[in-house]
Amino acid sequence: MVLIAPSLLSADFKVLKEEITMIEQSGADWLHFDVMDGRFVPNISFGLPVLEAIRPITTVPIDCHLMVEEPSKQIPLFAQAGADYISIHLEATSHIDRDLSLIKEYGSKTGVVINPGTAVELLNPILHRVDMVLVMTVNPGFGGQSFISEVSNKVDWLKKEREANGYDYLIEVDGGINVQTIQSVSNADVFVAGSAIFNAADRSREITLLREKAEK
Ligand code: DX5
Ligand code: ZN
Repeated sequence: MVLIAPSLLSADFKVLKEEITMIEQSGADWLHFDVMDGRFVPNISFGLPVLEAIRPITTVPIDCHLMVEEPSKQIPLFAQAGADYISIHLEATSHIDRDLSLIKEYGSKTGVVINPGTAVELLNPILHRVDMVLVMTVNPGFGGQSFISEVSNKVDWLKKEREANGYDYLIEVDGGINVQTIQSVSNADVFVAGSAIFNAADRSREITLLREKAEK
């Protein structure tokens, strides 16, 4: 399966509604929603009020990537605002197991995220119970950074573990994904791309190209 998830971080915020409509019509499977708190990552992006504003104007699944400290405080709010997936960083919580339960309790799908410097094997105790694993292919905090190619090993490992154990999580990659880099992580299922899609002259063509390269 190949799902393309444009990151709204690279959208033009002064016309956000038009951007969402256009990206839906261009073939986006999901919308990736990057929440940054200025603490877990050095940048502040957007949060709950923006999710509440856009949820009623789109039927596309919204994939919330919480780059925040103390995610347990935010999980109920984002779930109630209609986040389909809520992904939290392993590095941001001392209680990943409890926080995953909280996401489920509030009715969203569970995602766990690891930074480039975090070993994927640390996920072993929770792999059986997550709906998605997000492997960061840049250090989170900003759009438009360069892809870190070594991280592709983690994607391969996650695919093997899934097959060996009969798990059914999705594997997502995020950061620096474009038509050049996507093939090296083609074992993933969900491909987030911000600048590559929103800065493209023809976004629909870009999404098609990304999909084709990921499928090969
Ligand atoms: C980075 C964010 C990404 C970002 C991707 O911290 O999590 O989702 O928007 O942007 P590009 O595709 O431009 O690297
Ligand atoms: Zn993201």
